[in-house]
Formats: sequence, structure tokens, C-alpha cells
Amino acid sequence: MTVEKGYVDAPVPDGVDIVAEIRRLKKEKQAVVLAHYYQSGDIQDIADHVGDSLAMAQYAATLRDAKIIVVCGVHFMGETAKLLCPDKKVLIPDTNAGCSLADSCPPEAFEAFVKAHPDHTVVSYVNTSVGVKALTDIVVTSGNARKVIDSLPADEKIIFGPDRNLGNYINAQTGRRMLLWDGACHVHELFSAEKIAALKDRHPEARVLVHPECKRPLTLLADCVGSTAALLKYAQENPATEFIVATESGILHEMRRLCPGKTFIPAPPSDSTCGCNDCAFMKLITMEKLYNTLRYELPEINIDPAIADRARRPIDCMLELS
Ligand code: 13P
Ligand code: SF4
Repeated sequence: MTVEKGYVDAPVPDGVDIVAEIRRLKKEKQAVVLAHYYQSGDIQDIADHVGDSLAMAQYAATLRDAKIIVVCGVHFMGETAKLLCPDKKVLIPDTNAGCSLADSCPPEAFEAFVKAHPDHTVVSYVNTSVGVKALTDIVVTSGNARKVIDSLPADEKIIFGPDRNLGNYINAQTGRRMLLWDGACHVHELFSAEKIAALKDRHPEARVLVHPECKRPLTLLADCVGSTAALLKYAQENPATEFIVATESGILHEMRRLCPGKTFIPAPPSDSTCGCNDCAFMKLITMEKLYNTLRYELPEINIDPAIADRARRPIDCMLELS
């Protein structure tokens, strides 16, 4: 079986109950399925663990008995799991599941930026390639970025990459002046403050939940700015019954599941009046591809050993601080 297209392109045999088969294969092969909140509902429902980027990494780091880890998320999440579990087989159902934010920071260009500022500590968002992580001192996720930055001395010179929006948000929160790489996520940058303000006029009691990858005007409108897990927690704990959600729409599945009496309104992107923002990369993972991945144990994520140790170190550093 080949994966020329980046996934196993094999038909699901007629009559196969795909949910039952995925469950059977997971058990038979001692495979654990990790899914991000941006995955479709059916993938989240069948996963062994659903979380934000931080929780996925933390969970992967604790896995002892599993032989196989299947990452239902984007490529850097699979790489993180592989770096943390080098002895396990780490699979991703479609290697085309990239990340526009990670792509906005090519390792060669980032290396030149780092070399131009030799007295700076390099802090990188987990949404980066292995090559960028190898140039990094500490990795952060949106769930712990503030905590990690707060742990550094106030006068420390810091390079923060690649997300300019998360970097700007932390600079504003902490009063730091981190040097920012000029990258962004194409999904989160599309949310519009005007459209959220208009929604708020129609739903004055609604709380506004915003991921820090969104632009600054959105964070200024927000009642809660945080990682997907932090937004979920806020929705569960806050007594409000309506929430406007400015992050990828996959999170609505878990919000609605955990808060059945509450209403979650997806914030529309700037170029549409009705749709919500989907990450096309995240949505490349389907039940069929997950089934084939478990069946054929492909595609596998492997990382060049020459770079793996250097890329693992800043992730370990993050996990120690989290
Ligand atoms: P989280 O840190 O909330 O998981 O976000 C990851 C991500 O890719 C956001 O676009
Ligand atoms: Fe990357 Fe944006 Fe998709 Fe998150 S939502 S995986 S940052 S492209």
C-alpha cells in the first residue's frame, strides 16, 4: 500500500461499519487516537483523547502502553507526538494536513532572524515545523504562552514566532516588547470585529470568546481570550447562556456537548455573512482516512534523528514549565 497522495487511497469495503471497525482496530493494535478540538464531530467522538495543542502534547507524553498513536490534527501536532514518543509508531491520516501559520515561518528565514538577534531567547509557538523548533529555546502553545513568558526575567530579550497576533496579545498583556515574527493563521485572521460587533447588537447578553490568533480589535471585544481549552472552560463555568465563538468551528461540537442548555453562535469570517471559519487542513482528516490509517498503519510520521533532539528540547522545556 502506498501513500502517494499523502493518505491511503483505498475504498472502505462494502458493508463495513466504520465506527465499529475503528474501535476494533484501535484495540487490536493498541492504538490511541488523539484529536484536536478542530476536528469534525465524528472524529472527536471516536478519539481516546480530545484536547487543545497543549493537552495533546501533555497526553502524548504520558502514553506508556500504546504501540501506535494516531494524531487527528495537523502535521505539527503529529510531529510533536513523535518527538515526545520517539519509540512509538505515530500516524496521521493525511499528511496534507498542514498549517498556514507554520508555513508562514520557513526555517531558513527564521534562522537568519534568530542570528540577527543573538542575545535573544527564542520562544516559538507550537504551530511550527521541526526545523523552527530546532532553533527555539522554549516552545509554547496558546494554552500556556502567558505563563511561560511570565516565567522569564522581566528584562529578558525575547524573539517570539511565528504568530504576530498571539505575540502582540502577550506584549499587550505583559508590557513586554518581544520581537515578533510576522506570521499568522489564515483562518483566525479572517474574523471581523465589525461582524462580531453586529452580532453582539443582536445578542446583547452573549459573551464573546476569541482565540489569541485573532487580530487585536477582536481581542479588545472579547470577554475571554484563550486557547480552545480555555474558551471551553469559560463557556462551561460562565453563567451566560449565549456565546459568540471566534475560533475554528470544530470547537462548537464539544461546547454544545458539554453545555447542552447554552447557545453557541459561530462568528462569521469577514468575507461571508452566514458561514463559519473552518480550517481546511484540519478538515482533511475523515473517518475513512482514519480507518485506513489504522488498517494499513500509514502514513507514518518520522523525524530526521539529526534534528529530533534539538527540536524535542524546547518542547520538554515547555512541558516542565506547564
Ligand atoms: P490551541 O492551542 O487552542 O489548540 O490552538 C491550536 C491552533 O492551531 C489554533 O489555530
Ligand atoms: Fe494552523 Fe490556523 Fe488551522 Fe490552527 S486553524 S491548524 S493555526 S491553519
